[in-house]
Amino acid sequence: MRKKIVAGNWKMNNDLVATNTLISELLKKEKTSNAEVMIAPTFVNLLEASKLLKDSSIIVAAQNMHFAENGAYTGEISATMLKSVGVNTVILGHSERREYFNEADNLLKLKVDKALEEEMKIIFCFGEKWEDRSVGNHFMVVESQIRNALFHLEDENWESIVLAYEPVWAIGTGQTASPEQAQEMHAFIRNLVKEHYNSAISEEVSILYGGSVKPENAKEIFGKNDVDGGLIGGAALNADNFIAIVNAF
Ligand code: PGA
Repeated sequence: MRKKIVAGNWKMNNDLVATNTLISELLKKEKTSNAEVMIAPTFVNLLEASKLLKDSSIIVAAQNMHFAENGAYTGEISATMLKSVGVNTVILGHSERREYFNEADNLLKLKVDKALEEEMKIIFCFGEKWEDRSVGNHFMVVESQIRNALFHLEDENWESIVLAYEPVWAIGTGQTASPEQAQEMHAFIRNLVKEHYNSAISEEVSILYGGSVKPENAKEIFGKNDVDGGLIGGAALNADNFIAIVNAF
């Protein structure tokens, strides 16, 4: 059975003190669901987060990484650096990386390949903008984002891939996709994977929804057949809200 996952993307929030505080609050909360829980703090606090969560079931993920092994890439972080601080999972392709840092499919493909070579797990994000959906292009956009960055992979690589559908118009806007819109897209994505690979892979891959998930709407969204969890931004910055979302399963 495919995994249920709730991952908190902290983005560029929480300094060292706030990271400590939020993690200790998360550790005190009672988790009643069996969903896998992840948090993605900023790079500089990954080591601290790894240390604090060493004996817990909460997994620490990075928000990005570079495709090269090492070298002259000022300001960048490699997979081996992440692994050296206990981080084996990375978020790739977030819409903010695509939008503000020009990360396009061809670059993301290189990052995916590097992460897999380093035996890391990947949460691969994609999603359409409002301008795409408003003219009915959302399926086409999502299909090409997935196809261009992932469909060269071998069957066995898919064990390391989690997909995250995040419609850009729903991120940080308070305007969540309806559970029906999420389900419709998730079913489309699962079918795409089935057609290109096979149903064993498509049935096993977890597909998360992201975009204004809150304790108030999590249950209904997670209740949909093809929604296997969430990638949570704003609501992950508060321990009560985040754990309430985790416990929505
Ligand atoms: P949001 O962000 O929950 O604040 O909308 C989601 C995300 O960007 O992953």
